Amino acid sequence: MPITAEEIKNKLQSPGDDLVFFVNGKKITEKNAEPEKTLLTYLRRNLGLTGTKLGCAEGGCGACTVMVSKYHPHQNRIIHYAVNACLAPLCSLHHCAVTTVEGIGSMASKLHPVQERIAKAHGSQCGFCTPGIVMSMYALLRNNPQPSMHDVQEAFQGNLCRCTGYRPILEGYRSFTKDGGCCGGKAQSNGCCMTNEHTQEHDSSTLPVQKLYDQSEFMPLDPTQEIIFPPELMVKQPQRELRFAGERVLWIQPCSLEELLELKATYPNAKLVVGNTEVGIEMKFKNLFYPVILAPAYIPELNIIQNTQDGIQVGASVTLTVLGDVLRAAVKKLPAHQTEVFKAVLEQLRWFAGQQIRNVAVCHVPEDSEIKFFMYVSGLVNYWEKRVIEMDGKFFPGYRKTILKPEEILLSIEIPYTRKGQYFSAFKQSPRKEDDIAIVTCGMNVFFKEQSNIVQSIRISYGGMAPVTVLATATCNRLLNRQWNEELLEEACTSLAEEMNLSPSAPGGMVTYRRTLTISLFYKFFLNVQHKLSLDLLKEVFNIVFFLDSPSSVQLYQVHKYLDDVVGQPIMHLSALKQATGEAIYCDDIPCYENELHLALVTSTKAHALIKSIDTSDAMAVPGVVAFISAKDIPGSNMTGPVVYDETVFADDKVTCVGHIVGAIVADTQAHAQRAAKAVKISYEELQPVIVTIQDAIANKSFFQPVRSIERGDVAQGFKDSDHILHGEMHIGGQEQFYLETNCTLAVPRGEDGEMELFVSTQSASKTQALVAKALGVSANRVVCRVKRMGGGFGGKESRSTILSTVVAVAAHTVKRPVRCMLDRDEDMLVTGGRHPFFGHYKVGYMNNGRVMALEVTLYSNAGNSLDLSLSVSRALFHMDNSYNIPNIRGTGYVCKTNLPSNSAFRGFGGPQGMMIAESWMSDVALSCGLPAEEVRRMNMYKEGDFTPFSQRLDNFTIDRCWEECMQLSDFNKRKDAVEQYNRQHRWTKRGLSIIPTKFGISFTAVFLNQAGALVLVYSDGSVLLTHGGTEMGQGLHTKMVQVASKTLGIPCSKIHITETSTNTVPNTSPTAASASSDLNGMAIYNACQTLLQRLQPYKDKNPKGCWEDWVSISESSVFRQNLGYDFETNSGRPFNYFSYGVAVSEVEIDCLTGSHKNLHTSIVMDVGKSLNPALDIGQVEGGFMQGLGLFTLEELRYSPDGYLYTRGPGMYKIPAFGDIPIELKVSLLRDAPNEKAIFSSKAVGEPPLFLAASVFYAIKDAITAARAESNLTGPFRLDSPATPERIRNACEDKFTKLCPPADPGTFIPWAVQV
Ligand SMILES: Cc1cc2nc3c(=O)[nH]c(=O)nc-3n(C[C@H](O)[C@H](O)[C@H](O)COP(=O)(O)OP(=O)(O)OC[C@H]3O[C@@H](n4cnc5c(N)ncnc54)[C@H](O)[C@@H]3O)c2cc1C
Ligand code: FES
Ligand code: FES
Repeated sequence: MPITAEEIKNKLQSPGDDLVFFVNGKKITEKNAEPEKTLLTYLRRNLGLTGTKLGCAEGGCGACTVMVSKYHPHQNRIIHYAVNACLAPLCSLHHCAVTTVEGIGSMASKLHPVQERIAKAHGSQCGFCTPGIVMSMYALLRNNPQPSMHDVQEAFQGNLCRCTGYRPILEGYRSFTKDGGCCGGKAQSNGCCMTNEHTQEHDSSTLPVQKLYDQSEFMPLDPTQEIIFPPELMVKQPQRELRFAGERVLWIQPCSLEELLELKATYPNAKLVVGNTEVGIEMKFKNLFYPVILAPAYIPELNIIQNTQDGIQVGASVTLTVLGDVLRAAVKKLPAHQTEVFKAVLEQLRWFAGQQIRNVAVCHVPEDSEIKFFMYVSGLVNYWEKRVIEMDGKFFPGYRKTILKPEEILLSIEIPYTRKGQYFSAFKQSPRKEDDIAIVTCGMNVFFKEQSNIVQSIRISYGGMAPVTVLATATCNRLLNRQWNEELLEEACTSLAEEMNLSPSAPGGMVTYRRTLTISLFYKFFLNVQHKLSLDLLKEVFNIVFFLDSPSSVQLYQVHKYLDDVVGQPIMHLSALKQATGEAIYCDDIPCYENELHLALVTSTKAHALIKSIDTSDAMAVPGVVAFISAKDIPGSNMTGPVVYDETVFADDKVTCVGHIVGAIVADTQAHAQRAAKAVKISYEELQPVIVTIQDAIANKSFFQPVRSIERGDVAQGFKDSDHILHGEMHIGGQEQFYLETNCTLAVPRGEDGEMELFVSTQSASKTQALVAKALGVSANRVVCRVKRMGGGFGGKESRSTILSTVVAVAAHTVKRPVRCMLDRDEDMLVTGGRHPFFGHYKVGYMNNGRVMALEVTLYSNAGNSLDLSLSVSRALFHMDNSYNIPNIRGTGYVCKTNLPSNSAFRGFGGPQGMMIAESWMSDVALSCGLPAEEVRRMNMYKEGDFTPFSQRLDNFTIDRCWEECMQLSDFNKRKDAVEQYNRQHRWTKRGLSIIPTKFGISFTAVFLNQAGALVLVYSDGSVLLTHGGTEMGQGLHTKMVQVASKTLGIPCSKIHITETSTNTVPNTSPTAASASSDLNGMAIYNACQTLLQRLQPYKDKNPKGCWEDWVSISESSVFRQNLGYDFETNSGRPFNYFSYGVAVSEVEIDCLTGSHKNLHTSIVMDVGKSLNPALDIGQVEGGFMQGLGLFTLEELRYSPDGYLYTRGPGMYKIPAFGDIPIELKVSLLRDAPNEKAIFSSKAVGEPPLFLAASVFYAIKDAITAARAESNLTGPFRLDSPATPERIRNACEDKFTKLCPPADPGTFIPWAVQV
């Protein structure tokens, strides 16, 4: 008899069982295990183990990785596996042992080699991803102490890092592998230990090039030293039902199938949960609620794996990892023709989520695995009966629906053997190869009549073409009894184009691409089968184009002549070890105050509307809720903004974007606050126009003022003098900063004189202080802002962090208690904006030989609903020439006002977009002249002493040196020949090569920000406390500043400490941004130290034989300002202190049928002056490059036409992962290039390298050009950024794309728009 809601409520009142598990060897008995609580929340909030981080809460970033160990009674052994603590329900851990980063080693006791190696190999910058990566590696080593490099790469498929570019992590951990730190000769020259060329090449230098760290210092791995599995857990799960009753949810773990079926009959609506990787997401993000959860993970019948006559039967609780092991073993053992489906499942498993998800998720749920259509459900069972059915088109009657009856459960599935004459393939196409949901998937199965190529039966199914998986039945029927030949192919393609149609407005967008993919993937299947049938021996086998290559790398830098000089040494990031052990404290790791409250934002769901009413009654009824805070609670001013006050702290009557902050709920826990925030009801009156895209803004003339322009020469005459003129356009999408640590603020009212102390994850302590003081109506001296470190910033925490810190401060002021808020990833992505999308159109005049004579370019940036820092995006105009000397040039820049969340700073701040458009016209010119792009670029490049369009002279211009070295380092000419040869031999994969320079101006374009301060306190024991205006977000600023102070004072780094950045030590600081922080703060520290030394001189003179400790006990502060400035009206002045230069060469391979690409090679030569710290600088170059790679090839923010952001987490928004790094990566810091304009002859490095990833984009464009040539298409073509698989495939026009023409724009409402 099904149970009623009232009865469930009563059961929640009765006490549940004790949950018994171990954490880091310590037994925990939890009497009130809450089914809605995740392991992560429990570790962080209940146990204070804050080493495990929260990056996304959706299993997509790996920051929360821990290791779970348990006794497996069926296998009679202990299994260890990495899991995402953010998805693991606490209640699923009964009788398990959890190991967190704190459990394997610490600074205080002993480091674990996994922690030591990532730190010493410079694989930890901001460190927020580091504990998760450490634990993924640790779990791998627990299972396999000598893994292969392939195993390491696979272990990291579920981990993301936004800072390092991954290379140093892989290199550091290579030392654990069988290959043991050697690239196997892949790097060939320049640094490969298997050759001598590297040292010989640089013989002219004073010392040979050295490694960035010494591998021989690494502690050995000793598997016998690991924490032992608690003997008490070497038992089966309890042979009785377990119940955990929470506030709203009842969790039941039955111990037998009978019990489970009985429970399902009693609670037909109960949800079965195994890995929780689907239900967890539904409950957290989709607002679904399941009051009863049944956990069948340990039921023996659901864990069976057995061979049957027809295939392998797998129980419904078997995880994907176990399934993979079973199938791999079967493939090894059985004849090849029997395992066609197994191999296809294995291929799909490789690209299914990350290891942490595969370790817990069951194998029958997957949405994007079409292979399931070739499986049998070998048991649907309920209390009364059992049935066996085929998983055909009828099994999934609707989106996320199956034909299972409510009281029924799935017992097992069967994966069939194939027979002789049967061929099977499965394909998955997704934006990112690793850990990504498919755009289109398919499973294709053909069976031939005996000893023939005549089709006896065929089945083709597609996912991603409808709410459910669909079979191409009509096409299959047409192919029956046909020979497997070109005619069949043609018929199949035409038929698929008709059958697999999609509305141009279909959810998910990418309509033309998805339609083309159905045909392209069939073509791959056709070729595979043809190949196997040996009718036509093809050279290319398509489904192995994208395998995991083991990466190799080289880093070159100039070794310092004086080894006792700390400046110039590759010193490890000073916090790296703490970051690797989880001991480094980030904002949300600060222990909770006793009376602390949590805050959740209430945001607008409309892009442009009047607020008619706000109903908080349901929200206030949620347990633990204390207050709803809104505009009326602001004691000071509701107007805010980093430059002009044109935005609100809380919207009062009008909202101007989806995500506009309307109010906030304050409650006892974050879960309660968030639940209540969702219950706030706001009614709106929608307003017109809703301006979302740049094109909308142009049509509505919606621009912020002023419109800026820069002009030099006589543009009209330049066009007249040119042999040719061309016009072109390019759109560059925006980019989410995706710092691994989302925005976080803890506000603590001090209780007297209006004082407020703020702990904030911000790049801009002073701006936070000022805006909070303004909102609270107090003077700045009552507000202290403190920043220990950030888990990444990249510009995203320069100004947008203040919208959260101000709200939290107002809330804390109102409730008079400490209030904390760390935004969830989806909230952060929604409210904080990102890099500005750009649209540019250009007119170029050029000569037959490719010399550009005149350029007119108009740039539009999408600023969103407030000005924020968007005028500084005029940096795009300063970079519209990139590195090219155009005699007659005019650029105009419009900042578009739209109904999107305000866009803001992001590494490069408009510069990359300006340069990207420059490279677009440069590429067009080369293509229309029919000349090699590298020749045209070189010919137009600046020379020493030339002037930029804004009249700044280029002194110490080093691009030509970078260019020559990069040509050499990459072996450009040889590589180019090889690319051309490859392209002649391959029709459906093409390679491309490109070399791109960058020239990046260093300084804030907002002149007053070019200043910094430092405070140096010397204590009587000789130790030095250093404070400066810059914040540490992973870039290693504090490390470099300690190096500067150490060199200046002449004392070891170990005597100097930086504890935090705070407004009560160094006031009125500039944000840590614009790459200028080392320059500015370094000079301030240098000046302060110099003054100190002068003051110490008399003591030194008095006691010349004394030491540092004998002379000291003083302090000194210093302010440093740069004298810069540029006037747009008169085109005069000096906007930049100097320029940073670099050049990159990249080679890629594209799959013309799917649009995927592989980064084969990148060489970078970067001028960083005389490096302060080559390890940190190379880290910035590689990390910046990888962010650029995301910007130009992968990351796509997708908005609905009414301004709703779809891409709100790592599930939908893909940043580069481990598998995206170039297979071969060489980085060289230009030698002998001191820069007299910055501290100790160094140069800024944070932003300049990002643009070098454009070399990958233009290599892709080069490959597409080769593909288009096969269809006789030549000359310039438009390719917008990012070069996603969709854009690449659509640009490779061929007979298949012709079958799927796009609908006419304007005739339909698209699902997503290009903003
Ligand atoms: C980061 C991430 C990446 C992902 N990547 C992919 C991907 O690449 N491809 C893909 O297809 N999916 C992907 N998924 C989705 C998800 O992981 C899979 O669908 C997974 O197989 C779900 O398994 P689970 O055990 O975690 O499911 P749970 O959340 O535990 O349950 C899933 C569903 O199955 C039902 N269920 C479980 N057991 C039974 C049973 N015995 N009888 C009847 N119903 C049952 C549950 O009631 C529930 O509705 C991803 C998810 C995440 C979080
Ligand atoms: S926080 Fe768990 S995977 Fe991102
Ligand atoms: S070091 Fe990996 S995210 Fe910052």
